[in-house]
Amino acid sequence: MKIIISLSLAIVLVSCGQGNNDMATLQHQVDSLQKQLNHTYKPGLGEFMMGVQEHHAKLWFAGINQNWPLADFEVHEIGETVDDIKQYCTDRPEVKSIGIIDPAISSIDAAIKQKSVEQFKKAFTDLTNSCNNCHKDNQHGFNVITIPTGLPVENQRFKPGQ
Ligand code: HEC
Repeated sequence: MKIIISLSLAIVLVSCGQGNNDMATLQHQVDSLQKQLNHTYKPGLGEFMMGVQEHHAKLWFAGINQNWPLADFEVHEIGETVDDIKQYCTDRPEVKSIGIIDPAISSIDAAIKQKSVEQFKKAFTDLTNSCNNCHKDNQHGFNVITIPTGLPVENQRFKPGQ
């Protein structure tokens, strides 16, 4: 009987030891995955902003050319980039003010639905002002966004039609 008890105890001890080993391996894997995650490339706020800048410029030429499907696409790209900023730039306190552009985005949406160039131009000016207001509120007033004066790219057509 004594032998059986000691044997069972030995088995329990061995399996616990095995468990610890598994835990150690798992912890090691978690640590190395965490390390890899920390080194994964994430675009910074400035990089996202350059994307926003490009969409802002394309949106203007789409709108003034009454290319409403393209304008709709570009304004949604700005919205998606803003969502990415909220998700990936949590280390930047400035992001708290990003909602400042929401009303202008809604006005642009409305202008696109109405297919009204006049309404679009006004909403676009509001959008541009809200970009600059956020920059001013966050010590980036030197990044001044304007209504574009020239095409952002030369290899894309902004006039409607396939
Ligand atoms: C959170 C408020 C906020 C809003 C809204 C905002 N920006 Fe910015 N923007 C910033 C901050 C902060 C920076 C500086 C980022 C950095 O440190 O690299 C910046 C930088 C920029 C830059 C400079 C990027 C570079 O590296 O050259 C551009 C261009 C820019 N924004 C365009 C825009 C446009 C266009 C809009 C509006 C459609 C806009 N931003 C709206 C906060 C904002």
